[in-house]
Amino acid sequence: MPKVTSSWICQECGYTSPAYIGKCPECKAWGTISEEITSKKSDKLNLGIATNNSFHALSDLDLSEVKRIKSYDSELDDILGGGFVLGSLILLAGEPGIGKSTILLQIANGLSNTMKVAYVTAEESTYQVKLRAQRLNVKDDKQNLLLLAENNLEVIFSLIEQEKPDFLILDSIQAIYDPSLESSNGSVGQVKECANKILRLCKDKHITTVIVGHVNKEGLIAGPKVLEHIVDTVLYFEGEKFHNFRIIRATKNRFGCTDETAFFEMKDNGLESIANPSSLFISRNLVTVPGSTFTTIVDGSKTIIAEVQALVGGSGYSTPRRTSNGLDFNRVLQIIAILERRAGYNFSKQDIFVNLVGGLASSEPALDLSIAMSIISCVQDVPPSKKTAYIGEIGLTGEIRQVTKIESRIKECIKLGFERIIVPKETDIQKFKKSNSELIYINNIAEAISKHQQSNTGV
Ligand SMILES: Nc1ncnc2c1ncn2[C@@H]1O[C@H](COP(=O)(O)OP(=O)(O)OP(=O)(O)O)[C@@H](O)[C@H]1O
Ligand SMILES: [Mg+2]
Repeated sequence: MPKVTSSWICQECGYTSPAYIGKCPECKAWGTISEEITSKKSDKLNLGIATNNSFHALSDLDLSEVKRIKSYDSELDDILGGGFVLGSLILLAGEPGIGKSTILLQIANGLSNTMKVAYVTAEESTYQVKLRAQRLNVKDDKQNLLLLAENNLEVIFSLIEQEKPDFLILDSIQAIYDPSLESSNGSVGQVKECANKILRLCKDKHITTVIVGHVNKEGLIAGPKVLEHIVDTVLYFEGEKFHNFRIIRATKNRFGCTDETAFFEMKDNGLESIANPSSLFISRNLVTVPGSTFTTIVDGSKTIIAEVQALVGGSGYSTPRRTSNGLDFNRVLQIIAILERRAGYNFSKQDIFVNLVGGLASSEPALDLSIAMSIISCVQDVPPSKKTAYIGEIGLTGEIRQVTKIESRIKECIKLGFERIIVPKETDIQKFKKSNSELIYINNIAEAISKHQQSNTGV
C-alpha cells in the first residue's frame, strides 16, 4: 500500500517544502506555495531487477541512426539543429496569444504529407482547430492529420495506443491532467507528472512529441521552467503583441546548438519565416532624418539592422523626463550623462525619449553609439549626411569600445547598402576595403560628434 504524504510545492519554481511557508526561499515569490498530495512506494532500491538494457561502448554507436524529421520551414529546422530528432520531446513555450497553436498546426500540416500526425488540443474544440486550419489554408482532405479535443491523459494515451501516430502535438501541458493524481489541474505536481509520463511514451514508442507550455507571469499556473529538465529541447516563442514579428529561439537543445534564432511574421494565413529580418525593422528605406540613426543587433546567429530614434525637447517639469522603449533604461541614462560630461551638452532642462523601432528589444552595449548619435542628431536637428550605421560601446570616459561580432555587423551593413559605417578604432577596416561602404573608425564620443558636424557642413 503506497504511503500517502503531502508536500508544499511552489507553483512558480517547483521548490518543495515539508510545511507551509509564505515566501518561497528559491524564487522569492510570495503566496505561491500550495499543498499537493504525493505518494511514495518504498525507500528501498530493488537491485536484482531483470532488464533488456545494457551499457554501450562509444565506438559502437552509429550517429547515422539519429534520424531527423524536416518541418515545413527550413528556418525552423535550423534552430532545431536540422529538424526534429525522431523520438525526441520538445517544449514550445510562449506567452498567451503569441501563435503557438498556429505554428504547430502549420508543422502538423507539413508533416502530415509524409507521416501520421496527432494533434491533441486540451484548450480548444476540434472545430476551433479546423477554423484555424482554414485560415492557414490547410487542405480539407488531410487523412493523416488527426485531431482530438481531450485533457485526460489516460484517455489521450489509450487513443494514441490505438492510432499509433508518428508525430504528436499536445496543446497545452497545463490543460492536461492525470486522473491518478489528486492535485488540481495545472499544478506543478500535475504538470511534472504528466510531462514524465509523456516522456516515457515518447521514448518507448518513438513518437516525436511537441508539448506547449504557457508562460504565466502571475505564477498561478505551473510555468514551463519546471519542465525544462525533463524535455530534450526548449523552444521559446517571443514577440510583441502590437507587432507582427515573432522570434523562436532554442534555449536548450540536446541535439544541436542553442545559438540559433528564427524570425517569423504573423500573416493572415499563418506564420511565415523571414530570411532577411533586417528589412522588417528599417523604416523609410534608410532615408536619413534628424534624431534617427541605424545600428546592428546580434541575436544568436543572426545580425539585424535596427533603427534608434530620439526626441529631445524642452521640459515642463522641474525634473526632466527620460523614457526608453526597447532599450535598457539605465544604459540610456548613462549615455546622457556621458554626453553631458564628455561632450559638453546640458540636458538638465530637456526631456529625452529614446525608442528602438519596430518593437525590438535589446540591451546590447553595441547600440550605445547609435543612441548617443540619435540624441545629438535631434538636438542639432541635423540628420546624418549619408546613410550611416553606428556601431560601438561608449565607456564612462567617452571612449568608443569594441563590440562582439563586429565583422558580421559590418557585413550586414554593407549588404544593406550603408554608405558609411562608424566603428571602434580596434576594428580591422582593411578587410572591408573593397566594399562600397566607407568605414570610419573613431576613438571617442567627441570625435563622433565632430565627424557628424564636419560631414554636414561639407568639411
Ligand atoms: N485572422 C487573423 N489574421 C492574422 N493574425 C491572426 C488572425 N487570427 C489570429 N491571429 C493571430 O494569431 C494569434 C493567436 O494565435 P494562437 O492561437 O496560435 O496563439 P497561442 O499562442 O496558441 O495562444 P493561446 O495561448 O491562447 O493558446 C493572435 O494573437 C493573432 O496575432
Ligand atoms: Mg493555443
